[in-house]
Amino acid sequence: MIGEPVNELPRYPLATLPTPVTDAVRLREALGGPSVCPRILVKRDDLTGLGLGGNKARKLEYLIADALERGAQTVVTTGAVQSNHARMTAAAACIAGLRCVLVLTSHHVTPVVEGNLLLDCLFGADVRFVPAEDPMLAVGRDAEVVDEVVREEEASGRHAYVIPIGGSCPVGALGYVSGTAELVGQLRAMDCRPSRLYYASGSRGTQAGLTLGAKLSEAPYALWGVAVSAGEPEKIERARRAANEAAILLGSGVRVDHTDLFTDQAFIGEGYGIPTEAGLEAIRLLATTEAILLEPVYTSKGFSALLRHVRSCDIPPTDTVVFLHTGGAPALFTRDFAARMETKP
Ligand SMILES: Cc1ncc(COP(=O)(O)O)c(C=O)c1O
Repeated sequence: MIGEPVNELPRYPLATLPTPVTDAVRLREALGGPSVCPRILVKRDDLTGLGLGGNKARKLEYLIADALERGAQTVVTTGAVQSNHARMTAAAACIAGLRCVLVLTSHHVTPVVEGNLLLDCLFGADVRFVPAEDPMLAVGRDAEVVDEVVREEEASGRHAYVIPIGGSCPVGALGYVSGTAELVGQLRAMDCRPSRLYYASGSRGTQAGLTLGAKLSEAPYALWGVAVSAGEPEKIERARRAANEAAILLGSGVRVDHTDLFTDQAFIGEGYGIPTEAGLEAIRLLATTEAILLEPVYTSKGFSALLRHVRSCDIPPTDTVVFLHTGGAPALFTRDFAARMETKP
């Protein structure tokens, strides 16, 4: 049912798919074994391959195809200075032969060139910095600078395609409609019906796609989005609109409403980009049991929700749960993170 419409829309190949589903058996043992801990599967979208991987590769396959169809020579996008989305957009632009301009919000006038920012430069992106207000809300000075960049590009004879923050728009949401079809197919082949799918939720394109995809694919699990930043009412509305417009692009009569868009607010900590103790513990635990790398901004917060629910026996041990690993490993290679982890050789 679902596979066909989403596979018929223009899509530029960028990701290595399907990504594997890992059975985290050593993690399960470390959490007390099958008598107390559910089976934990990890959907490895950290291994999508594009410019060190992550969830944005799925969105960018549809966004880059749309940009090319509209005759773009340049893609422009925004994000925080350590944005995974920006890094992967820069990588995608290289592959598609497009120029890439990144408008990045930063608390520092000259941010340290490390982690994702180092890769942005390596991929040849033209990077512009603007002072940070709330990097998760695409309002303020960054929107003005994006408009300036578009005017500059057009004046130089290049048509610019603007990708909204996080690639979170109807076209981008298609990535997790097809991602859901892929996962549901893998679960069926494993004869497995997980009760929940946990994932870290930021700008909400992933949520929009997962929610629409779950309805279209009749996914067995309930979605458990874990917020990494505040501003829930605006974000619910953003996800609802993206999901419903994506449904229209697919020619589907299925609709998503506010009640479909639950996101757990308990793991944000002090705010976007500020690591939590529970998240740092999750990073250590998954690294030492499964050699799977979470990171401080998104996936560690998402995974700490799953860990809390396992430890508080909210999930019966006979259940299976899935964690959608959305990537982000370059954030590990930053001075701030090394300082927080107090890693010693
Ligand atoms: C590693 C990682 N996980 C999760 C997310 C959240 O995805 P979305 O912005 O679609 O909510 C992001 C977004 O930047 C991300 O980089």
